[in-house]
Amino acid sequence: MDKIDIPGEWELVAGRIKHNTKICIVLGKTDSGKSTLCKYLIRTWTASGIRVGYIDSDLGQSTLGPPTTVSLKNFTTPPDAGDYANPSYLHFVGNTAPEGFLLQTLHAVKLMVNISLRQGAQITLVDTTGFIDGPVARILKLHKLEMLRPQWILALQAEDEMEHLLKGYEKMGWHVIRLACPKHVATRSQAERQRYRSEKYQAYFKPAKIKECPIHKVVFPSGILGTGRRIHPHELPKEYCIHDMNHLYLKNAAPNCW
Ligand SMILES: Nc1ncnc2c1ncn2[C@@H]1O[C@H](COP(=O)(O)OP(=O)(O)OP(=O)(O)O)[C@@H](O)[C@H]1O
Ligand SMILES: [Mg+2]
Repeated sequence: MDKIDIPGEWELVAGRIKHNTKICIVLGKTDSGKSTLCKYLIRTWTASGIRVGYIDSDLGQSTLGPPTTVSLKNFTTPPDAGDYANPSYLHFVGNTAPEGFLLQTLHAVKLMVNISLRQGAQITLVDTTGFIDGPVARILKLHKLEMLRPQWILALQAEDEMEHLLKGYEKMGWHVIRLACPKHVATRSQAERQRYRSEKYQAYFKPAKIKECPIHKVVFPSGILGTGRRIHPHELPKEYCIHDMNHLYLKNAAPNCW
C-alpha cells in the first residue's frame, strides 16, 4: 500500500462505517479503484482490531482466487500484498464475466458471505466487477443488493456514471457513499487484462497434479452427462444407428420418448 495515494475521504469513510457495519459493498466501473479501496479498508480496519471477511466477486480481474471464481479470505491483521494470493474459500462460477451467469454469480456471492459471517467476520467487504452499464448489469446489482442487504454501498465514480444505479438505491433506502476515483488510478488494456488472467490461472494450477478418476464416479451437476441409461445399439431405431458405437447411453426427455 506504500505507493498508493490515500484520498482524505477514504480515511473519513473508513472511520465512519467501521462501527455497526456487517456488510459493505464496493461498486464502480472498470479501473475505478475498487480493489485498492478494499485493500485500504482491510488494512485500516484490521489495524484497529476488526476482523474483516473480504469477498472478491470480480470474476475477470480477481484479486484473491483464479478468474471465474468468487472467493473469500478473512483478515485479522493488516495484510501484505502476498497475503491476497491464497483465498480460504472459493466457488467456481464458470465464466470470466457475469453476463449469462447471473444466477451462478449471485449464488457464489451468497455462499461466500454466509461463510464469512459464520466465521465471525465483523465486517464483510464485497469487491465487485466493473459491470455497471446496461439492463443486465442493473438486474445483477439490484439482486445482489437485495440479497446481501449491505449497510453501506461505496460507489467510486469518475463523473456520474453510476448515478443511473445509485439514485434508485437511495430512493429504496440504501445508504450510499459516493467517492471520487483516485487521481492516480491506472487503466489496463484488454491485453493486460488477459495477461493478468492467464498469470492468475498459471499460479493457481501450478501445484496441480493429474489424478485419474473413473468416469462413473464423476458428477456433472449442471449437465446431463452421466444421467442416462446404458443401452445396446440394437435397442435404437435403425435411423438412429451409429456404426462402431459400443457405448451408448440414452437420456429420455420423457418415458417412451426417444
Ligand atoms: N489510490 C490510488 N493510488 C495509486 N494508484 C491507484 C489508486 N487506486 C488505484 N490505483 C491503481 O489503479 C489501478 C486500478 O485500480 P484497481 O485495481 O483498484 O481498480 P478496480 O476498479 O478494482 O479495477 P477492476 O475493474 O479491473 O477490478 C491499479 O494499478 C492500482 O494500483
Ligand atoms: Mg478490482
